[in-house]
Order: sequence, then C-alpha cells, then structure tokens
Amino acid sequence: MTLRRDSSPPSVVLVGAHGHGRGHLEHLAARTATGLVRLAGVADVRPLDVQQQSLAGDSLFGTDAARVIAEVRPEIVVISTPMHTHANLARLAFDAGAHVLLEKPPTPTMAEFDALLAAQRAAGVACQVGFQAFGSRAYAELANLIATGALGEVRRIGLTGAWTRDESYYGRAAWAGRRSLDGVPVMDGALTNPFAHGVAMALRLDGSAGDEPVRQVEVDTYRAYPIEADDTASARITTARGTTVLAAVTLCAETSREPIVEVVGGEGRAELWYTEDRLRTAAGERRFERLDLLDNLVDHLTDGVPLVAPLADTRSFMQVVEAIRLSPAAVEIDARFRRQAGHREIIEGVDDVVREAAAAGALFCELPVGWATGKAFQWRERD
Ligand SMILES: NC(=O)c1ccc[n+]([C@@H]2O[C@H](COP(=O)([O-])OP(=O)(O)OC[C@H]3O[C@@H](n4cnc5c(N)ncnc54)[C@H](O)[C@@H]3O)[C@@H](O)[C@H]2O)c1
Repeated sequence: MTLRRDSSPPSVVLVGAHGHGRGHLEHLAARTATGLVRLAGVADVRPLDVQQQSLAGDSLFGTDAARVIAEVRPEIVVISTPMHTHANLARLAFDAGAHVLLEKPPTPTMAEFDALLAAQRAAGVACQVGFQAFGSRAYAELANLIATGALGEVRRIGLTGAWTRDESYYGRAAWAGRRSLDGVPVMDGALTNPFAHGVAMALRLDGSAGDEPVRQVEVDTYRAYPIEADDTASARITTARGTTVLAAVTLCAETSREPIVEVVGGEGRAELWYTEDRLRTAAGERRFERLDLLDNLVDHLTDGVPLVAPLADTRSFMQVVEAIRLSPAAVEIDARFRRQAGHREIIEGVDDVVREAAAAGALFCELPVGWATGKAFQWRERD
C-alpha cells in the first residue's frame, strides 16, 4: 500500500448511522471539525433524524450504500451495520478502492472472512476492525510484559464476563440474538458479539498467528432469554502455541461487572479490564490511554504506522466464531435456576460459576452446576 500524499483530509462515508453507528457519526462530525477527516457521505436504509442530519452536515445521504460510495468515491468507508451485512458492504468499499473501518465481528462465517481478506489484499487497501480495546496502551503494556518474559511462560489465559442485559437488548433489531436470519448466518451470541473484544484480545495476547492460530475449540452454550443464539457460554480454546484460553461469559449476571482477561504465567499474573484500559500486575494497578481506531487508520494511511486491529489479525477470533456457528443450539436453562428482575433474566449463582470456570479451565458443563446440562462440542480446524 502506498502512503497518501494529499494534504487535504481523507473523505469518509459512514454506512449505518443508527444504533452503534450514531457514535461513529458523532465521532466523524467531531473529527471533521478538527480537520482530521471530511465526512462526505452517510448511507443508511433508514432515514436520519434531526440530530443525525445536523451531524451529517452537507455530506451526501442515501439509503443505498453502493450509490453513496459510487458518487462520493471516499478514501475511507466506516461500516457499522448488522454483522451479516459486513462482508458485502466491505467488499463494495474495497472494490471502490476505499480503506475500511469495519465494525466487529468481521463476518459471521469463516468462508466470508477468507473471501473478504482475499478481496482486501487484492484491492491493496487497509482494513481496521472495530476492536477498539486493541488501541489501549493497557493491552500494549500487557503484550509487552508477555513478550519480554516478565510473567514467565504463559500457562493459561482466562476471559470472564458477567454483564446484564434486558429484553430490549434482544428486541432492538431483527438480528439480535439470532444465529441466522432468513437463512443467512448471523451469530449474535455472547462470545461472538458482546464479549468478542475479550475473546479476540485473549487470543492475540497468546500470540498465535498464521493460517491456523487456533488448534481446537470446545464450546458449551446456554440461553436464559427466549432467543435462538446463546446469552451464556463457555469455550476452551487451544491455540497453535498450546496455550489454553478459557472464556466464560454471561449476559444474565446477578451483578454486572466489567470483563477481565487474565494471563497466568510461571512468574506472575496480570489482569486486564479491557473496557476500562485498566491493568493490574504484582507492581500494582494502572489506567492507560487509548488510541482511537479512526485516528490510527488515518495515521496508517498517512505515515505508515501499523494498524492496531488489522483484519488479518482477527483470524483466531473468527475460528472461535466458526466453532460456535457449527455447534449445536444453546441449551435452554431450566426455569428453576432463573429469576426475573423487571425485564431482566438472571441466572442464579452465575457470577460465581463464570469465575470458577475460568479459574479451573473448565467448561460450565464440567462443573457441578445444576443448570449446566449441556455437552461440550469440539471443533478442530481440519475437521
Ligand atoms: N465496537 C463496539 O463496541 C460495538 C458496540 C456495539 C455494536 N457494534 C457493532 O456495530 C454494528 C452495528 O450494530 P448495531 O447494534 O448498531 O446494529 P443496529 O441494527 O441497531 O444498527 C445498524 C444500522 O445499520 C443500518 N443498516 C442495516 N443494513 C444496512 C445496509 N445494507 N446499508 C446501510 N445501512 C444499513 C440500520 O438501519 C441501522 O441504522 C454491528 O456489527 C455490531 O456488532 C460494535
């Protein structure tokens, strides 16, 4: 990829301006005001409200992303649409020669991911994935502690996540909580979407790369909500380096707490609260700054600084998405083990179960837990 020589701000089209896209729109308007970029187009299948119109300014609005991209010919396309639309929209942008900031998860299937990566490489453009926590200096610090051997040899990595969501979370969009929609894979489960950042981070900290960064995935998924996908899941991932990564998460917690990626080495351990840029080691606890993904993409195009979350580096995460896609349907948690608080489903005792699973390297179904009646599903890359 050649660096841009033009001194004017790169033009940007935003695709998907409601939901999470509203934040992108606000951010692009702010960065347009400072001259980092120029918001030149917005595409959404739904009309913009008054606030969005004001943020969009005199940029071109259209309901057809292909037309907006063809008319604007932007240097950058930011895509914040439902995940099952990512591959088509990103390819549209690549084909138009645009660099892309693509929301996570990149795609719901490995086949789409491989095709997308090939299309990106063929187009010779950059693609940053919306894993914003990779921009955190806390992540960089932990990666450095591992690389320099400060924690000793990495023995295991754990991800624990206990968040709460209510019915409106699954009612907000047709694709929410779905494994597929109209025959198209979606994969909106706990590990594949809300906790995707933690899964991707745990795997990247291990450092396994190449075509098969993950050797094996065992998954065990549950649901308390009446959804098709899962809201509570555990996965034991064996990486190419032989590290065990145990991810245990729920959206039906008793008490919501920010997720933690824990790295346990022979000579020390570290805990990273990746949503808060907070790192705790034997030396104490520190908060860090965070690089913004759009700023980093522009710096990459202008000065060649490395992208913090390049598409190619999300392959290990995609292998986990693929394993979950191929796994059986989530097991419904028996009503005896659930209670409702307002519009919220709570699984009794799940906060402790999540912690115990990560500490023991065990799937939920391997623990003496009444509701965990599932069976581990095993996936290997070469199956
Ligand atoms: N990085 C993060 O922390 C984070 C947080 C939340 C959501 N996300 C991601 O952002 C994306 C959007 O999530 P959401 O919850 O906002 O979804 P949503 O369904 O609420 O909103 C998506 C928007 O895309 C529009 N849209 C759908 N299809 C379109 C198309 N073909 N062309 C143009 N616009 C289209 C919709 O009208 C809507 O405005 C997802 O990939 C999600 O995983 C990322």
